[in-house]
Formats: sequence, C-alpha cells, structure tokens
Amino acid sequence: THANIGVVGLAVMGSNLARNLASREGNTVAIFNRTYEKTQGVLDAHPEAGFIPAATYEEFAASLSKPRTAIIMVKAGAGTDAVIDELVKVFEPGDIIVDGGNAFFPDTIRREKAVRSTGINFVGAGISGGEEGALTGPSIMPGGSDESWVTLGPILRSIAAIAEGEPCVTHVGHDGAGHFVKMVHNGIEYADMQLIAEAYDLIRRGTGKSPAEIAEIFAEWNRGELESYLIEITAEVLRQVDASTGKPLVDVILDQAGAKGTGAWTVQTALSLGVPVSGIAEATFARSLSSHPEQRAVAGSLPGPAEEFVVADEAAFIEDVRLALYASKIVAYSQGFDEIRAGAAEYGWNIDLGAISKIWRGGCIIRAQFLNRIADAYAETPDLPVLMTAPYFAEAFTRAQAAWRRVVVAAAQAGIPSPAFSSSLSYYDGIRADRLPAALVQGQRDFFGAHTYKRIDKPGTFHTQWSGDRTEIEAEDTH
Ligand code: 6PG
Repeated sequence: THANIGVVGLAVMGSNLARNLASREGNTVAIFNRTYEKTQGVLDAHPEAGFIPAATYEEFAASLSKPRTAIIMVKAGAGTDAVIDELVKVFEPGDIIVDGGNAFFPDTIRREKAVRSTGINFVGAGISGGEEGALTGPSIMPGGSDESWVTLGPILRSIAAIAEGEPCVTHVGHDGAGHFVKMVHNGIEYADMQLIAEAYDLIRRGTGKSPAEIAEIFAEWNRGELESYLIEITAEVLRQVDASTGKPLVDVILDQAGAKGTGAWTVQTALSLGVPVSGIAEATFARSLSSHPEQRAVAGSLPGPAEEFVVADEAAFIEDVRLALYASKIVAYSQGFDEIRAGAAEYGWNIDLGAISKIWRGGCIIRAQFLNRIADAYAETPDLPVLMTAPYFAEAFTRAQAAWRRVVVAAAQAGIPSPAFSSSLSYYDGIRADRLPAALVQGQRDFFGAHTYKRIDKPGTFHTQWSGDRTEIEAEDTH
C-alpha cells in the first residue's frame, strides 16, 4: 500500500502531526527522519498508527501515492533548505512539498519560487497549537498554489481543530501568505501574553494577593468575554507550586523571557510596511528588556515613586484591570489584522481577514471567544479599515476606556511597567485624534531639511524659506 501523506522530521511536533494524520479516516502516513533510530522509535511507540517507514529519501518517495505530498517538520532554517533539496531530487512535477515549520515568510517566498521552477509545488504552512495541538488538532495556515490546495485541502481539513463546526484551516493565499499570517499570529500571541502578564503584575503589586489567589481571578475572567486558551493556562501556571521550595512556581522562575524570533519578525515586517503594531512591539521589547540582567542590575538603583502603591477598592481595581486588558487586547488584534491587510496589499495576496479570524478560533495558541466577534466584524464589513472601530468593539471601548485610563495612570504613579497597556492606549488615542502633532513634525522637517509639507486649506506642496525671509513657496513634493 501507498501512503497519501508523508512527514519528514520526527521530533515532537513532527511525530505528533504524523500520529494525528494517521488517526484520521482515509490517511496512510509515510514517515522519514534524518536518523533512522528516531523513525524506529516512533514506529515502536505507535504501532496503531500503521506508519510506513522509510530509511532513505528514495524509499520515502516510493512509498507515497501521486501527487506525492510531504510535510516537513524540522526546525526552521538551514535544515528546511536541506530537506527541500533532498525531496526535490526524488519528487516529480505536480508533487507537493509542505513546510510546516515557523519559517520567515520571505524565505518561504524564495523557496516557493525555486521549487516551482522544477514543477513541484511548495507550500509554506503555519501550524499553531504547540505539541498538543499537533496531536489533537492544530490551526493551520497554508499558503502555496491553488493546484496544491486541491490535494492538500482535504488532508489538512482532516487533522485541523474544529471550531463552531468548521475546520480551522483555510487556503490563506499564494506563496508566503500562510507563513506571513502565522508570523502575525505569533506577534499577537506575544502581545496577548504580555498584556496578561501586566494584568497579573498590577493585581499582585496593587492588592498583595498570592499567585494562587490571582489564578482564581483569571479562572473567573475565563468564564467571561476574555475567555481564551492563554487566560486559561495563566491560571494553571499561577496555581503551580514548586516541589523543591514549596513556593509558587512563578516566584522561582527566572524573570527573563525568551523568544525564538517570530515576534521580532512581526515587528520588523510591520516597520517596513509602515504599520504601527505598537502592542506587539512593546511585548517583544518587554521580553528583550527582561533578558538583560546586567543592565537591570545597574538600573536597579534608579529612583522610583516615593509613595507606596495602595489600592483603596480591590474589587473595583481588579475590574478596571480586566477592562484594561480587554481594551488593550482589542487594540493588539486590530493592529495585527492591520499588518495582515497591509502585507496582503504589498505582496499581492488575496487574504480573507474574516476567514483568518475563523481559523484562529480553535487549535492555535491565541484561540479565544473573542475571535467570533472579529469574524462577525469582517462578515459585516469585509474591508473594514480599522478592525477596532467595528460596532461591538466600539461598544467595548465605551465600557472600558475610563477603567483603562485609570489603570495606566495607576501603573505610572506606582512605578509598575505597563508597556503594552499604555502603548495600546496611546495608539487608541492617536488613531481617534482629530488633529495630531504630526503637523509640527512636518514643520520641523521642513525647517531643517526642506522636506516640504501640505496644507489643510489648499492642494499642493509647500516650503517655508526658513533661512531666508520665511515666506512660503510652492515646492516639489519630497514626502
Ligand atoms: C504556536 C506557537 C509556536 C511556538 C512559538 C513560541 O502557534 O503554536 O506560537 O509557534 O510556541 O514559536 O515562540 P517564542 O519561543 O518566540 O515565544
């Protein structure tokens, strides 16, 4: 018998995805790993899966029915290119190579172009949900050609998470579109996590509650409009007691956050596209700030506020923090979707933003009730220019904005860093402002570099002769 799908790379994500595939009606799965030992290990551990093992790429190709379809699950980077090179040697035109790793989308665009020149399809597919998701149902964001989607669609639909009866996978767009959207997913994930961390910090320092007590607050929030996987696991983490010291685990974990680069890519890309993803950027920077102990040791001597942070009404404060979290979360998602919109325009992808919000409702790390509201917003207005202006979100800001401001003020006065809360609020106030001091920036640019400006009262481009008699002349547009 032949396999209809193959998996290359049998570390945890790869073997879990292979097992997920094998468990679904209609799939037979070929497996390959660089070292056969690992393949044998997976075979031995999961006889029920009926895997077809291969010791060489030739054997792997021979075990697959046509069009051959293989998902690469190796650590993103040079390893991915090495596997693609080997597969291209043994595959034929019309076959499909899928990269299921967290590749940077420009790499995917490059690889797709190179592989396509051989007649083989290359699909960069973002896969979210961690180890558990890979096994039980991830959210999948595939790019690549329409031709490959014909074969790949049913296979990916068979293993994806189900949300509201629909599989969490859609053909995002051509070439790098899937990995682009996965990148932004991760950026939003960073923002979501940082916002939750700031909420925890404010509550802890404002009320003196223990991590276990705060876990109960998050568990309660998880029953309301904030319901999400990240809120749920936050309660679990806060509840955990360290076996060796008996302290809350969160108090013995080193406070230096790691990152594997996807948040930074989201921000770098947003900077190039000119999209202000300030919540994601601050979340990424907050991890960087935390991870410089040598600087933090020196800066520890800088002065903080004189007064102690006292919260008069604990319940009211906690509710304010909840609303600040919700409002900031809306901003983070709105900014993320803005980046997808801009990326799609830049790279010529036809991305359905509503469909993206739907495939994020299940399986992925940022899955949340809230994504139904985003789906509703795009169903109503598919080309919504600013997601957070949708009626549901506008109403949420009406409820939340006063609390949000109180929380940011309290954090500033108490000397508690709240980069994601406060930058989100600044974005909110910036984008809704009638006039911005950008006018002054234009004046400054014109002063020192004759960069010119436009006027509110007539068309054209102007320059004030600052070093001469300061009269205004019409000028050529220099931007
Ligand atoms: C997912 C996760 C996954 C992974 C991130 C973590 O969607 O399943 O986002 O891709 O956990 O790479 O990123 P950091 O290590 O950068 O926090």
